[in-house]
Amino acid sequence: MGGKLGTLFARAGHEVVFSYARSLEKLKRLARKAGGKARAGTPREAAQEAHALLLAVHWSRVDDVLAQAGDLAGKLVVTCSLPMNADDTALVIGGESSGAEELARKIPSARVVAAFNTVPSEVLFDVYAGRRKAARPSLVYCGDDRRGKIAAARLIRDVGFEPVDAGPLRIARYTEPFGLLVAQLAYERKGGPRVAYRFERLGK
Ligand SMILES: NC(=O)c1ccc[n+]([C@@H]2O[C@H](COP(=O)([O-])OP(=O)(O)OC[C@H]3O[C@@H](n4cnc5c(N)ncnc54)[C@H](OP(=O)(O)O)[C@@H]3O)[C@@H](O)[C@H]2O)c1
Repeated sequence: MGGKLGTLFARAGHEVVFSYARSLEKLKRLARKAGGKARAGTPREAAQEAHALLLAVHWSRVDDVLAQAGDLAGKLVVTCSLPMNADDTALVIGGESSGAEELARKIPSARVVAAFNTVPSEVLFDVYAGRRKAARPSLVYCGDDRRGKIAAARLIRDVGFEPVDAGPLRIARYTEPFGLLVAQLAYERKGGPRVAYRFERLGK
């Protein structure tokens, strides 16, 4: 998710720092391929300079990457991370809370928005290729910070989705299991993983 979204953010004109992998070479390669103003850096370097950070790590790595990133006061943290167990078969948080809310509790001075957690990575380049079409796929997002949500909606549009504001961060209790439904359709049903969705409001 980080490699693909970072590449698309760079193509949309953003200055992107790819960080957090076991191989610095992989991050440098991603930055070279993304082109534009992309580069590789440590999580701390990425966090210090960026207005917005995409958290795209396995749930088991969240504490580690946050420790490496350092102070996130005032930063927009867009999380696509789903709170999955080690073998990615089930959510470890759900119902009364969500991964996004737990994350917000870990970094109370940051502005957390949950987005990009309801689509498979395999569809992202297709969505970007169709970004000028009239009927674009939807992408639900939620958060408690108004300015953070405006910035997140812009990133969502930059990738080619129509942002759908689902409300406060606690709505991640619903969007995270919905992400698993989309994953089920993408990876367990026929037709391949290039799956997106579109909400339509009928009537006035
Ligand atoms: N994949 C999807 O379609 C999708 C869709 C919706 C939501 N999500 C969520 O998005 C998050 C990211 O998923 P993903 O599929 O993009 O995961 P991924 O391909 O495994 O990427 C995770 C990143 O973390 C790095 N990493 C893992 N272990 C590390 C370690 N010990 N030290 C340093 N870096 C480490 C990986 O680098 P290396 O492994 O190269 O070292 C990679 O850069 C997850 O929470 C997932 O639930 C994924």
